[in-house]
Formats: sequence, C-alpha cells, structure tokens
Amino acid sequence: VDLTTFAYGLPKAELHLHLEGTLEPELRFALAARNGIELAEKTVEEITATYDFTDLTSFLAVYYPAMNVLQTAEDFHDLAWAYLERARENGVVHVEMFFDPQAHTSRGVPFANVVTGYRRAAVRAQDELGVSAELILCFLRDFSAEHAMSTLMEALPYRAWITGIGLDSDERDNPPAKFAAVFARAKAEGFFTTMHCDIDQKGSIEHIRQVLEEIGVDRVDHGTNIVEDPALVAAAKERGLGFTTCPLSNSFVSEEMKSDEIVRLLRAGVRVTINSDDPAYFGGYVADNYVALAERAGLDAGDLARLAVNSFEASWLTPARRAAYI
Ligand code: HPA
Ligand code: ZN
Repeated sequence: VDLTTFAYGLPKAELHLHLEGTLEPELRFALAARNGIELAEKTVEEITATYDFTDLTSFLAVYYPAMNVLQTAEDFHDLAWAYLERARENGVVHVEMFFDPQAHTSRGVPFANVVTGYRRAAVRAQDELGVSAELILCFLRDFSAEHAMSTLMEALPYRAWITGIGLDSDERDNPPAKFAAVFARAKAEGFFTTMHCDIDQKGSIEHIRQVLEEIGVDRVDHGTNIVEDPALVAAAKERGLGFTTCPLSNSFVSEEMKSDEIVRLLRAGVRVTINSDDPAYFGGYVADNYVALAERAGLDAGDLARLAVNSFEASWLTPARRAAYI
C-alpha cells in the first residue's frame, strides 16, 4: 500500500486535539441556525478566507469568536461526535481531547452544558465506534490563576469524566510558573497534567524548563524547542516524557512544520507523537499530519509505526489497556 493508505490505517492515539478546534464551517452554520445566531460570513468560502494565520495570536483571534454558536449540551455533543467519526476514519482508536471551559463559561454558557455534551459523545464513541475517548480540561493561560482555580473547583463534581488538566491559549507573558499552585492542586486531586509550550521566540526553553523541573507535568504539548538544550532532552528521554507535536499546526502558527526538530527527537528516542491540534483550521486530521511530516522529512512506514507506538506509550491509558495496542 502507499504511505497515505498506511498512515490512515495505522492504529493510533491522538493526544493533542482541541475539541473547539474541530468546528468545521458547515457545522458552525448548522449550529448558528439552530440557535438563531446571525453570522457575518454567509458561505464556507467566506469563513475559510479568514483562516489567514501568521502566528498563534492571529489564530486565536479567529478561533474564540467562532465558538459563540456552541451553547447547549447538544451542541457540544454534536461537535465532539463529528470529530470522533473523522478520528475513526483516521485510524484513531484512543483519544485524549482538550476542551476550554472558560471560553464558554466566560460568555455565559454553563459549565455543565460543556462537560455533559462532550461526555455523552465520548461514551457514544466507545459504544458505536470502538474508540475510547477521554477529556482533558485546559485552562486559558491568558486568564488569571484565580480563574483557573475556580474552574478546577467547578470541575471537581465531574472528576470521573475528566482524565487530565492542561494549559493552552496565548503563551506570551503567561509562563507555566503562573499556574504552579493550580497544577499542584490538580495533581493532588489525581489528575494527569500537561501544558502547551510552543512560544516561538526567546524564552521558550525557559518555559520548557519550568514545565519539566517546577511543574512536573506528565506530558508536554508541542515543546519541540527542547532540542536547543541537550541536557533537557536527556532528562525528558530518561523520564519517558511524551511530546505531542502538531506538524500542520506548526506550519500555520510558526514559520514551518518543525520537521527537523520532530525527527531529531524521534531519532534520539524521545517519546514524540504526531497530532492534529485544531484540524478544522489547520488543513488536516491526524493521519494527514503523519503524511505531511513523512513527505517533508522523508519518513518511511517504519517511522510512522514508531510514532503510532509512541502515541500509546505517551497516552494515559492504564498499562493493561495500553498493552492491547502496542
Ligand atoms: N496553542 C495554544 N492554544 C490553543 C491552541 C494552540 O495551538 N489551539 C487551541 N488553543
Ligand atoms: Zn494545542
């Protein structure tokens, strides 16, 4: 088979996927109609014409306003379900999905709508698609640490439905250390933890160092700039720390795919994984990311299979469930 067919068929876990980043223009129109919301854009082409990102900030400026069509639990269910069907077609058998409750509660949508809708889709995915789906609650790092803590408290009644805690949104001037107390509390509550480390300028290596040495996360999202510091790479390898990289996303919000960094980590034996980030915005779902990286970096089927094994090893599946896939 050709490499694209192989990449799609390869059983894999997806570990870096923002549910709100799976909102396709067609579904956005459907939800707007259902909720009686008038959109400025009238066609899919008018929407995709706004996907003209040069960096993370310009992406986020499109990403957050698009979410206003998400209001009821049914809306959140429909969003996650549409993603899960696409994920299955991409060979995904397990997914740990980010969601941003503060992007909804801050505009008056109840936390319960968000989490019950997403949870219903996750349960349905197991039953109807054979895909296990877990949720990772992300704090918005451009909101205060106090707002993150109150969001964590709001999540505790739903503890059984939430596997991990993450950190996303605008990284500039919002270092990991800002959230040290709330992540300490999340760990005390038994959540797995991860953080985005993708700021693309001086300071990024300091954020990665904080995440490894001060916060003590279970995984790092993006984090490819770790290649700048061989001692940190060695420490990450020693700990078996997973890195969730996103080639197509990188080519939108950075200057390039960062294929050199990803392949260097792969060859060094670091647990690097391939993911789609915000597939509705960045031009491809997870298998498309495997293919894009393979084409750019000259990877073969064996390399892609290694990346898929890494995705299970870096997942938060129990060892017994993980063993079924590796
Ligand atoms: N980076 C930071 N925050 C985000 C992203 C991202 O790629 N996608 C959604 N929120
Ligand atoms: Zn992300």
